[in-house]
Amino acid sequence: MLRIIQITDTHLLADKHGLLRGHDTDRSLRRVLDHVAQHAAPFDLVLVTGDLAHQAEPNAYMRLKSYLKKTGVPIECLPGNHDRQSVMQASFIPYGIGCANIFDRRPWRIIMLNSVIPGQDLGQLSAAELARLDNALRDLTEGHALVCLHHPPVPVGNPSMDEMGLSNAAEFFRVIDAHSCVRAVLWGHAHSEFADVRRGVQLLGTPSTCFQFRASAAGIAVDDAPPAYRWLWLFPDGTLKTGVTPV
Ligand SMILES: [Fe+2]
Repeated sequence: MLRIIQITDTHLLADKHGLLRGHDTDRSLRRVLDHVAQHAAPFDLVLVTGDLAHQAEPNAYMRLKSYLKKTGVPIECLPGNHDRQSVMQASFIPYGIGCANIFDRRPWRIIMLNSVIPGQDLGQLSAAELARLDNALRDLTEGHALVCLHHPPVPVGNPSMDEMGLSNAAEFFRVIDAHSCVRAVLWGHAHSEFADVRRGVQLLGTPSTCFQFRASAAGIAVDDAPPAYRWLWLFPDGTLKTGVTPV
């Protein structure tokens, strides 16, 4: 069994004590990681699914790196609309943290995609990224795939958020549907929990480690729901168990 912790939308600021919408995102993340260490251990891998640094400053990534390294397990990240992949790579790769990688924990293959359009909140998978996904799934003759990206590929029940989801979800699902090995798709971005099943594939959205969003008359409002993380247990037969833990 492979035990994964997913954290997402950490939105760290350059200033450790800075506030975002009145929230101390650094403190909130540290509380989440303390909870993970105390209540979710042991685990084998941490996945971080985008919006790691709110304004993509190098020192926000360096602080995140130091917090994540304390987990003592491999870390794999992918970028969100607030990130700059080049800054992430420079901050993480020298320290052994993966950035938008495809890697195997047999019999599982984990596919971390980059759905960012630079300068836009809306997401899109480029032709190259769709081809990378397609090839990774085709190569997987025996085994199961977990596909991760920042932007939700389905509506999540928040119209303003849905306007900045994955804009080419139909193309994404055309690739997913062409292969029988995909067991789950995992994302962040919406700052809310989501769970559904589509053609046997689990669709899973995870709340942020800082504040959550809800739909409001003005579009999007900050909810009073707590910070959270997701745990996933991936079994060799392709089944998985998962849940979201509020902190
Ligand atoms: Fe986002």
